[in-house]
Amino acid sequence: MASTSEFKTPNGTRDVLPPESARWEVLLARFARTVEAAGYGLLISPMFEHLEVFQRVGASTDIVRKEMYQFQDKGGRELALRPEGTASVVRAFVQHRPQVPWKVWYAAPSFRYERAQAGRYRQHHQGGIEVLGTEDPDVDVEVIALAWEFFAALGLRQVHLRINSLGDATCRPVYRQALTEFLERRAGLLCDEHREAWKDNPLRVLDCKKPDCVAATADAPHQVDYLCDACRTHFARVREGLDALGIPFSLDPRLVRGLDYYTRTTFELAAAALESAQNAVGGGGRYDGLVEEMGGPPTPGIGFGIGLDRTLLACDAEGVLPAASVAAPLDVYVVDFAGGGAARDITAELRAAGLRADRAFDGRSPKSQFKSADRSRARLAVIVGPDEAAAGEAAVKDLRAGADAGQRRVGRSGLVAELKQTLRLMDTSINM
Ligand code: HAM
Repeated sequence: MASTSEFKTPNGTRDVLPPESARWEVLLARFARTVEAAGYGLLISPMFEHLEVFQRVGASTDIVRKEMYQFQDKGGRELALRPEGTASVVRAFVQHRPQVPWKVWYAAPSFRYERAQAGRYRQHHQGGIEVLGTEDPDVDVEVIALAWEFFAALGLRQVHLRINSLGDATCRPVYRQALTEFLERRAGLLCDEHREAWKDNPLRVLDCKKPDCVAATADAPHQVDYLCDACRTHFARVREGLDALGIPFSLDPRLVRGLDYYTRTTFELAAAALESAQNAVGGGGRYDGLVEEMGGPPTPGIGFGIGLDRTLLACDAEGVLPAASVAAPLDVYVVDFAGGGAARDITAELRAAGLRADRAFDGRSPKSQFKSADRSRARLAVIVGPDEAAAGEAAVKDLRAGADAGQRRVGRSGLVAELKQTLRLMDTSINM
């Protein structure tokens, strides 16, 4: 057991301190803005669910089999921290039966017991959307377009979209059979992990990055060549929609995703500026059988999850959204060396008037208070010394104008109006 002074975040988790956390605020606000503008409403679901909820979405996947944070509560119930967002959304849909199409978004932590490294965490954060109740291929286009727009609006230019179709209950079994026959002949050439395990989920072998599996499956059959008429038409319409919206994509017939529920359209977005092992910044697809699987009526669904941690890493790699550009600076820092009462009253008044204001505490020297004012990056200082206090006034100083900038004395009753006017003028001169 670590002593108290050695307490640290558990492996694979991180603290996000200010000012870095300001980027998270911006990222979440932009995500919300992008998807709410398209009619998605926020869904807040519990961070843990009954274990079976997650087992339904991926009984044969590593995420569910090996990486889940599962536990028994004091009442002996088997629960698990959510490893991804879709299962909870579908569970909520089945539980509440909202009107379709049901369009929701979420931004929340997910938990996977993975080998932690740069870009791969045990607690990561996903921003996602899900649409339940329509199989219109234009919805596939909308969902993909929203992910694309979000990255583009952040200023990321090196994000690449790959798409595939995984077929449906009609054509997937036919393809699976063809792939199984292929893999039976090649099993001996597969990597150590898949030499036996391929039988549980043959499609997953196509996703294996180990050279043995890549070489052994180079000429494996592809689902896109086995699509039934309905799936082929659906997929053609999705590609046509992406073309119409000017969203560049490549077809990747080997794209199979890490969860069991996918049908038809699947996609992944990768940031070329990141290390290739951890460069997927988002992914998603259709899951037309999942609602039924969870006990609901037959209801198609589609969505995506964007890895927000990795998105910020991609922003670093491309030099966009720097922390310094997003942290909102204070408007006013109040310096009071007349006892502290003025600082207390003025900051309260300024905050009530909608200005961002802060002050020093503990009766510190004027010099130390000015230092804090500079460090706060506030635009203006309000200064109250014994003279100003006696005259019922305060001095206003432009903190960006250098050490020699003059001060103006203003009556306390007109202070808020004067500060607002000065800040407005500063904004106009910045924008000119
Ligand atoms: P996923 O591909 O497993 O899909 O995760 C979505 C995104 O979350 C990934 O592209 C990646 O950016 C990020 N991510 C996943 N695991 C980690 C990790 N350990 N550390 C950092 N980032 C990570 C899903 O979870 C599906 N629920 C997406 C979806 C929604 N499909 C349909 N609707």
